[in-house]
Amino acid sequence: MTDSETSSETITETFQIPLEAAEMYEAKFVPALFAEWAPRLSEAAAVKRGDAVLDVACGTGIVARTAADIVGSDGRVVGLDLNEAMLAVAERVRPDLEWRQGDVARLPFADGEFDAVLCQMALMFFPDRARALREMSRVVTPNGTVAVCVPASLDAQPAYGPFVEMAARHAGPEAVSLLSTYWSCGDLEALTSVIESAGLSVTHAQTIAGVARFASPDELVATEVESTPLIDRISEQVYASIRAETTEVLAPYITAAGTLDAPLVAHLVAARPAT
Ligand SMILES: C[S@@+](CC[C@H](N)C(=O)[O-])C[C@H]1O[C@@H](n2cnc3c(N)ncnc32)[C@H](O)[C@@H]1O
Repeated sequence: MTDSETSSETITETFQIPLEAAEMYEAKFVPALFAEWAPRLSEAAAVKRGDAVLDVACGTGIVARTAADIVGSDGRVVGLDLNEAMLAVAERVRPDLEWRQGDVARLPFADGEFDAVLCQMALMFFPDRARALREMSRVVTPNGTVAVCVPASLDAQPAYGPFVEMAARHAGPEAVSLLSTYWSCGDLEALTSVIESAGLSVTHAQTIAGVARFASPDELVATEVESTPLIDRISEQVYASIRAETTEVLAPYITAAGTLDAPLVAHLVAARPAT
């Protein structure tokens, strides 16, 4: 599997990474950035004891693990992802849960199989978002909930905005393509509109400022590069240039202890199949 499909003009970003990067993603990226959104997403979807829950594009499984703690032994949790390395880590961390390799465009599940379908920080990577959302809607029960969480637009990101602008100045087009994809579902109006176009009715939409916490600004750069497809796309020289400027760009978010608390603004949207 390649980390991107490249034509002469565009790259389709699907966030594919090898095993070493997936381990780093779980060890560094998940606690710093992704873990805090998983309980919010479960709450937005009203996940409860006994539910059957699908975590679409589960990565190393933080949402599935969070949902599993809520549904308990009476429930069922399945994590699905395109990437085998992500799934290998998910399985190592929680061998008791169900992990499936697959594409959101063709979910290998029956109609109405789940009470809740959750998708965290991944919709940006689906080439046909309406189709992905239609699939999520198909596999949820008529009274069930589809809930997604995506980063807000870059111009709404007080820390990541200047950081990405600086990184993009140093990096080549392949890296810039990935850096811009992260924020590509960030217009809340456009997001709710694509969700509704997929036959879902939005019941809850919220924009929240979370905090990405790193041991230092340098740790943010290392995590953003070494646990993402960027690791194969930037030279040592570009990496060093980005590292050298990060402390200055993120200075307002460095704590007295030298750690970094970088705000990350994201949208949480929950929806039900339209009747
Ligand atoms: C940034 S990660 C987010 C993972 C996880 N939801 C989390 O919160 O940590 C994006 C994930 O989307 C997955 N992905 C991308 N395209 C996909 C597709 N078409 N079907 C299933 N998973 C996909 C990638 O393999 C990757 O694991």
